[in-house]
Amino acid sequence: MAKLEKLRSQRWLDRDDFRSFNHRSRVMQMGYDPRDWEGKPVIAILNNWSDYNPCHQHFKHRVEEVKRGVLQSGGFPLELPTVSLGENLIKPSALLYRNMLAMEVEEMIRAYPVDGVVLMGGCDKTTPAMLLGATSADLPAIFLPAGPMLRGMSRGQTLGSGSDAFKYWDERRAGTITEPQWQSIIGGIARSAGTCMTMGTASTMTSIAEAIGMALPGSASIPAVDAGHQRMAAQCGRRIVEMVREDLRPSAVQTREAFLNGITVAMALGCSTNAIIHVIAQARRAGQDISLADFDRISRDVPVLANIRPNGTSQYLMEDFHYAGGLPALMQRLRPHLRLDQVTVTGRTVAENIEGAECFNDDVIRPLANPVYREGALAVLRGNLAPDGCVIKPSAMSEKFLRHTGTALVFDDYPSMKKLIDDEQADVTDDHVIVLRNAGPKGGPGMPEWGMIPMPVKLLKEGKRDMLRISDARMSGTSYGACVLHVAPEAFIGGNLALVKTGDRISVDIPARRIHVEVSDEELARRRAAWVAPPPRFARGYGWMFTQHILQADQGCDMDFLQASFGENAGEPDI
Ligand code: FES
Ligand code: MG
Repeated sequence: MAKLEKLRSQRWLDRDDFRSFNHRSRVMQMGYDPRDWEGKPVIAILNNWSDYNPCHQHFKHRVEEVKRGVLQSGGFPLELPTVSLGENLIKPSALLYRNMLAMEVEEMIRAYPVDGVVLMGGCDKTTPAMLLGATSADLPAIFLPAGPMLRGMSRGQTLGSGSDAFKYWDERRAGTITEPQWQSIIGGIARSAGTCMTMGTASTMTSIAEAIGMALPGSASIPAVDAGHQRMAAQCGRRIVEMVREDLRPSAVQTREAFLNGITVAMALGCSTNAIIHVIAQARRAGQDISLADFDRISRDVPVLANIRPNGTSQYLMEDFHYAGGLPALMQRLRPHLRLDQVTVTGRTVAENIEGAECFNDDVIRPLANPVYREGALAVLRGNLAPDGCVIKPSAMSEKFLRHTGTALVFDDYPSMKKLIDDEQADVTDDHVIVLRNAGPKGGPGMPEWGMIPMPVKLLKEGKRDMLRISDARMSGTSYGACVLHVAPEAFIGGNLALVKTGDRISVDIPARRIHVEVSDEELARRRAAWVAPPPRFARGYGWMFTQHILQADQGCDMDFLQASFGENAGEPDI
């Protein structure tokens, strides 16, 4: 393995010149002695903690274990806080700020005397944001997953993040649960530090980080409050120092094959639809060609093996997945589908990492011969309504809508749609197709998770729990239902979704991967000529920059100026 000749941080800290005088004296101002850093890798611990991010509340203290590990291996640890995106508390959408965090991570690594980084994250957008930034900076980096929270509990019943919030909210609207029951659910659904414990976006993305090889084997599923999480944090600290000495960088780990492993594992987990956007963005940063087609192809081939809500009919959650053996056990079962020779942050291959991994519960992590769902979790549809593609999650919807044609009910914004949803006399059946538009990357802005459009209360009271819904928004990974998402191009920039009218007939055929509005090309052209673009969402600030530069969902919603290559003049001056 390659050995590093000279530490990058020495250019700041170990010279006898005026600039170095300033750097050294300011590190000494913090109470450190040259013996603390001389000849040692400086490890930046990017800690994504804040009082408004309940999923990361343990990071405030967990960072001490990372530091312990760094010191044990002879490194010099320094904590750098980053902006923290508490998914459920940010409006209109944390995705709006994923790229801001990614840029911050990249620039903090680049600007400071840093040799390697530990990335502490886990809440939905944080994992991809930190990995996007570290991928572009390309210094040795290891990802430390926040770990899932404990399973939810209310009046003797297990509760799952997101999934049960949606489920019981529908029941409350249908009038089937009491106020004390509702209050018990509010207090019981999120009981500890850690990320959502269903197979939502958080666990999907931390598992993908592990499968790609950017996190330690088994780290993604350790519950945040388990003592094993503390030990794993120290191990990350020890390992990053070795990675610096080996000069093991994200560019060596993140090959196209590594991303294909990430997608394969995601499919076997019954992943969140959000994974598509993040993995495409991350792969493009790494200079790898990954597209929607890779997801659809792998999805047809890889069955869902993880019996974790919102997939399947079980009550299993991430805690159960961890006790069953976690990702190494799942990857052991997936061996025939994986590229086993890929190098990971351990310095070893995937095959070596999962060697001897056992499964302790065949109902939680199913064998290939007895999957939860025979085809993969996601399907990519195309047609005149989504020329650049859209996605749906067949493993978490009722089969009745796998092939469906219905009459469109079209809404330009959320408030007008909500009127229909709340109207007990609404003229709506579960044969209708609800369309919500202007909720895409530019229109939302930031593709809010509005794609699981609530069921109309009229239908809930009839006992109906699913219908076909279409939008250019995203949905939470913990959602379920026949929801077509990520329609590209989005309506806000004049995608064909903008041209649909209430009363049009829309067909979706998931086995054929087709979505179609039964309107002729001539009529669509007439409607396009009459279409008026909505006014821009922002006139200034970050929002303006975002909407000027954001790419569409099929390209990962990265900024167009954050390409893989920085050009010849982008190196750091050696002064
Ligand atoms: Fe943080 Fe779900 S809200 S992971
Ligand atoms: Mg989520």
